[in-house]
Amino acid sequence: MRIEIPRESERFGAVSIHSVQKVLELDAGLQFQQNEAQTSQIIRRISYQQLHGIEKEMAVVVPMRGERIKLVQGVLCGIPNHCLVIIMSNSSRHPVDRFAIERDAFLRFSRFTDKRVVVVHQKDPALAAAFAAVGYAQILDPNTGLVRSGKAEGMIAATMLARLLQRKYIGFVDADNYFPGAVLEYVHEYAAGFALSNSTYAMTRIAWHSKPKIIEDGLFFAKWGRTSRSTNLLLNQLLAEYTGFETEIIKTGNAGEHALTMNLALKLRYSSGYSIEPYHYINLFEQFGGLEGTVLSKDLILQHVDVHQIESRNPHMHDTGKGDEHIDEMKYAAMQVIYQSPICPKKLKRQLRREIREMEEMEQVYAPVRYYDPLAELDDGAFRAALVERPYAEFFPPQPHLHVVPSPMLVDVEETVVLPPTPEAPLPTNGKP
Ligand code: GDP
Ligand code: CO
Repeated sequence: MRIEIPRESERFGAVSIHSVQKVLELDAGLQFQQNEAQTSQIIRRISYQQLHGIEKEMAVVVPMRGERIKLVQGVLCGIPNHCLVIIMSNSSRHPVDRFAIERDAFLRFSRFTDKRVVVVHQKDPALAAAFAAVGYAQILDPNTGLVRSGKAEGMIAATMLARLLQRKYIGFVDADNYFPGAVLEYVHEYAAGFALSNSTYAMTRIAWHSKPKIIEDGLFFAKWGRTSRSTNLLLNQLLAEYTGFETEIIKTGNAGEHALTMNLALKLRYSSGYSIEPYHYINLFEQFGGLEGTVLSKDLILQHVDVHQIESRNPHMHDTGKGDEHIDEMKYAAMQVIYQSPICPKKLKRQLRREIREMEEMEQVYAPVRYYDPLAELDDGAFRAALVERPYAEFFPPQPHLHVVPSPMLVDVEETVVLPPTPEAPLPTNGKP
């Protein structure tokens, strides 16, 4: 990939937000020859091998609920073979078991492509038991005892699975994307963002180049939706209140397409519903902004958090048949998490209170936002123990104290450890010498 370096960066405590970067070439060739140097100071060439090295340590999570299987198969087709895929489905199981149909289709796909695909249902009782075992009941619905519905909750559960699967990076792609080529591009861009960062706390967010719409009888390539405009403006306003300089640096407040290093994914607090993506920024500022009353963890004082925003080249086209009603809900959710944050400056708070009230007067009232604690402290051994019966447990790496031979699907050939042959067990002698 050939990509421009960020034109500017804004620093907020330990958080560096880099301005949107344009991609010049999706594939810029193989590894450098030994004495070939970067040819430009402002354009970076990231070799195919470098992207591959990062992607093979990445879990790509596909959250889905009731999507058409054909559409999701296209998404799977776009995810590189060396990534581990986690499909987190919340599709209905009654009266028709849609999930069973999905699982069959995706596992067949996995066999045909020899690709590691983990298929999980969000309401799997074992998953709920795993969360209960580690004391994370906040994600469970008290009425059913199962994991709550919602894309955010699915993403949190998938993050725990990716952790058990020892992934270093985790990326998210929506299941309703019409273009497999766009999905492939996102994954390469996630990796490019990590390649450009020297921190182990990093996030890559995709800024869509365009979202095609049919207007009259032609295609119109829209760049910004109404919600993104409003969310970005608010986040930038918050930054400006602290720095004293107006800014437009944040362009990815609502980026559903994003990836994080596992270190960062485990440290963040999350919020529910449509607010999860804008809240990434807010929580980064809360935890790592170095503001009064916050404590930066020791490893972060030496490091920093890098946020790269990369502009994708493929048009983004997802299933819009679900209607537009949630546009206002997304806007409302973003306003809520900013308004409720202890770091929201007074002036912005007043403005938000006014806007929220106006929406509520128009009877636009949505579910309150829920917050979830970071996952870092959860005991992954106990979490894992609740899931050992699940078919995907075969992908869990062997625990050091158990003498299990590593699954051949999980390790690269050059990493395979050759174990000495186990001595044959002595035949029973029935007491005779
Ligand atoms: P939009 O793209 O913002 O219009 O929202 P979508 O309705 O397309 O949702 C984004 C993604 O989240 C899609 O892949 C959905 O199938 C998925 N999704 C929605 N609700 C849930 C849920 O409760 N659980 C999971 N795991 N995924 C969900
Ligand atoms: Co969608």
